[in-house]
Amino acid sequence: MALRNIVKEGDEILTKRAKEVTEVNDRIRQLLDDMIETMRENDGIGLAAPQVGVLRRVFVVELEDKIYELINPEIVKTEGTQTVEEGCLSVPGCVGTVERPAYIKMKGLDRNGNEIEVEGTELLAVALSHEYDHLEGILFVDKALEIKDIDELENDGETDEQ
Ligand code: NI
Repeated sequence: MALRNIVKEGDEILTKRAKEVTEVNDRIRQLLDDMIETMRENDGIGLAAPQVGVLRRVFVVELEDKIYELINPEIVKTEGTQTVEEGCLSVPGCVGTVERPAYIKMKGLDRNGNEIEVEGTELLAVALSHEYDHLEGILFVDKALEIKDIDELENDGETDEQ
Protein backbone atom coordinates (compact mmCIF):
# COMPACT_ATOMS: atom_id res chain seq x y z
CA MET A 1 0.00 0.00 0.00
CA ALA A 2 1.08 3.54 -0.52
CA LEU A 3 -0.08 6.95 0.54
CA ARG A 4 -1.32 9.17 -2.26
CA ASN A 5 -1.48 12.95 -2.33
CA ILE A 6 -4.88 14.49 -1.79
CA VAL A 7 -5.94 16.90 -4.50
CA LYS A 8 -7.27 20.20 -3.14
CA GLU A 9 -10.08 22.49 -4.24
CA GLY A 10 -8.97 24.53 -7.23
CA ASP A 11 -7.64 21.52 -9.13
CA GLU A 12 -9.98 20.98 -12.04
CA ILE A 13 -10.03 17.19 -11.67
CA LEU A 14 -12.39 17.75 -8.74
CA THR A 15 -14.90 19.43 -11.07
CA LYS A 16 -15.02 16.68 -13.69
CA ARG A 17 -17.31 13.69 -13.97
CA ALA A 18 -15.27 10.57 -13.23
CA LYS A 19 -15.25 7.76 -15.80
CA GLU A 20 -16.65 4.27 -15.36
CA VAL A 21 -14.24 1.52 -14.41
CA THR A 22 -14.24 -0.91 -17.34
CA GLU A 23 -12.32 -3.72 -15.67
CA VAL A 24 -11.93 -4.43 -11.95
CA ASN A 25 -8.31 -5.54 -11.94
CA ASP A 26 -5.25 -5.44 -9.68
CA ARG A 27 -4.71 -1.81 -10.55
CA ILE A 28 -8.15 -0.93 -9.17
CA ARG A 29 -7.54 -3.08 -6.07
CA GLN A 30 -4.24 -1.25 -5.53
CA LEU A 31 -6.08 2.05 -5.89
CA LEU A 32 -8.63 0.95 -3.25
CA ASP A 33 -5.87 -0.11 -0.86
CA ASP A 34 -4.02 3.17 -1.33
CA MET A 35 -7.21 5.19 -0.89
CA ILE A 36 -8.00 3.43 2.39
CA GLU A 37 -4.48 4.05 3.68
CA THR A 38 -4.63 7.69 2.59
CA MET A 39 -8.08 8.20 4.15
CA ARG A 40 -6.91 6.76 7.47
CA GLU A 41 -3.67 8.73 7.47
CA ASN A 42 -5.71 11.91 7.08
CA ASP A 43 -8.38 10.91 9.63
CA GLY A 44 -11.09 10.94 6.99
CA ILE A 45 -14.25 8.87 6.87
CA GLY A 46 -14.42 8.76 3.08
CA LEU A 47 -12.36 9.34 -0.04
CA ALA A 48 -13.18 9.33 -3.73
CA ALA A 49 -10.69 8.48 -6.49
CA PRO A 50 -10.66 11.99 -8.03
CA GLN A 51 -9.37 13.22 -4.66
CA VAL A 52 -6.19 11.25 -5.28
CA GLY A 53 -6.01 12.42 -8.90
CA VAL A 54 -7.66 9.39 -10.50
CA LEU A 55 -10.74 10.27 -12.56
CA ARG A 56 -12.50 6.93 -12.06
CA ARG A 57 -15.78 6.02 -10.39
CA VAL A 58 -14.40 4.53 -7.19
CA PHE A 59 -14.83 5.56 -3.56
CA VAL A 60 -14.25 4.27 -0.05
CA VAL A 61 -15.97 5.05 3.25
CA GLU A 62 -15.00 3.86 6.72
CA LEU A 63 -17.43 4.18 9.60
CA GLU A 64 -17.61 2.30 12.88
CA ASP A 65 -14.78 -0.05 11.84
CA LYS A 66 -16.60 -1.02 8.66
CA ILE A 67 -15.13 -0.34 5.24
CA TYR A 68 -17.35 0.26 2.24
CA GLU A 69 -15.76 0.11 -1.20
CA LEU A 70 -17.81 0.93 -4.28
CA ILE A 71 -16.86 0.84 -7.93
CA ASN A 72 -19.20 2.37 -10.53
CA PRO A 73 -21.79 3.23 -7.87
CA GLU A 74 -25.34 4.07 -8.86
CA ILE A 75 -28.00 5.55 -6.61
CA VAL A 76 -30.91 3.11 -6.39
CA LYS A 77 -33.09 4.97 -3.91
CA THR A 78 -33.12 7.87 -1.51
CA GLU A 79 -35.60 8.84 1.18
CA GLY A 80 -36.05 12.00 3.17
CA THR A 81 -33.45 14.61 3.94
CA GLN A 82 -31.09 15.51 6.75
CA THR A 83 -29.18 18.73 7.16
CA VAL A 84 -25.65 18.20 8.40
CA GLU A 85 -22.37 20.01 8.87
CA GLU A 86 -19.62 18.34 6.90
CA GLY A 87 -16.07 18.76 5.75
CA CYS A 88 -13.89 17.39 2.98
CA LEU A 89 -10.23 16.42 2.84
CA SER A 90 -9.99 18.34 -0.45
CA VAL A 91 -11.36 21.52 1.12
CA PRO A 92 -9.27 21.93 4.26
CA GLY A 93 -10.11 24.62 6.75
CA CYS A 94 -13.82 24.89 6.23
CA VAL A 95 -17.08 23.10 6.88
CA GLY A 96 -20.47 23.56 5.34
CA THR A 97 -24.09 22.90 6.12
CA VAL A 98 -25.42 20.54 3.46
CA GLU A 99 -28.74 18.86 2.81
CA ARG A 100 -28.31 15.12 2.28
CA PRO A 101 -30.67 12.17 1.95
CA ALA A 102 -31.79 10.65 5.26
CA TYR A 103 -31.51 7.23 3.62
CA ILE A 104 -29.64 6.17 0.54
CA LYS A 105 -29.24 2.87 -1.25
CA MET A 106 -26.56 2.35 -3.88
CA LYS A 107 -25.43 -0.50 -6.03
CA GLY A 108 -22.07 -1.03 -7.62
CA LEU A 109 -19.19 -3.45 -7.83
CA ASP A 110 -16.89 -4.68 -5.10
CA ARG A 111 -13.14 -5.21 -5.46
CA ASN A 112 -13.75 -8.60 -7.07
CA GLY A 113 -16.14 -7.23 -9.66
CA ASN A 114 -19.23 -8.66 -7.96
CA GLU A 115 -22.43 -6.64 -7.78
CA ILE A 116 -23.19 -5.32 -4.32
CA GLU A 117 -25.67 -3.04 -2.64
CA VAL A 118 -24.91 -0.64 0.16
CA GLU A 119 -27.52 1.25 2.14
CA GLY A 120 -27.29 3.61 5.04
CA THR A 121 -28.88 6.26 7.17
CA GLU A 122 -27.44 9.04 9.35
CA LEU A 123 -23.70 9.58 8.84
CA LEU A 124 -23.33 6.67 6.42
CA ALA A 125 -25.97 8.20 4.14
CA VAL A 126 -24.12 11.51 4.32
CA ALA A 127 -20.79 9.93 3.47
CA LEU A 128 -22.16 7.85 0.58
CA SER A 129 -23.87 10.90 -0.89
CA HIS A 130 -20.78 13.08 -0.40
CA GLU A 131 -18.47 10.56 -2.08
CA TYR A 132 -20.91 9.99 -4.94
CA ASP A 133 -20.94 13.74 -5.53
CA HIS A 134 -17.15 13.69 -5.94
CA LEU A 135 -17.61 11.29 -8.85
CA GLU A 136 -19.96 13.83 -10.44
CA GLY A 137 -17.46 16.64 -9.96
CA ILE A 138 -19.42 18.21 -7.13
CA LEU A 139 -17.87 19.45 -3.87
CA PHE A 140 -19.86 20.14 -0.72
CA VAL A 141 -19.02 23.83 -1.07
CA ASP A 142 -20.96 23.80 -4.37
CA LYS A 143 -24.19 22.88 -2.60
CA ALA A 144 -23.69 24.05 0.97
CA LEU A 145 -26.39 26.23 2.48
CA GLU A 146 -23.72 27.89 4.62
CA ILE A 147 -19.91 27.65 4.73
CA LYS A 148 -17.75 28.45 7.75
CA ASP A 149 -14.02 28.63 8.36
CA ILE A 150 -12.94 26.04 10.88
CA ASP A 151 -11.33 28.68 13.11
CA GLU A 152 -14.80 30.18 13.63
CA LEU A 153 -16.00 26.92 15.15
CA GLU A 154 -16.11 26.23 18.84
CA ASN A 155 -15.37 22.53 18.49
CA ASP A 156 -12.01 23.01 16.73
CA GLY A 157 -13.25 21.50 13.53
CA GLU A 158 -14.10 18.04 14.69
CA THR A 159 -16.47 17.62 11.78
CA ASP A 160 -15.80 14.39 9.90
CA GLU A 161 -13.88 14.92 6.70
CA GLN A 162 -14.70 12.98 3.59
NI1 NI B 1 -14.89 15.12 0.09
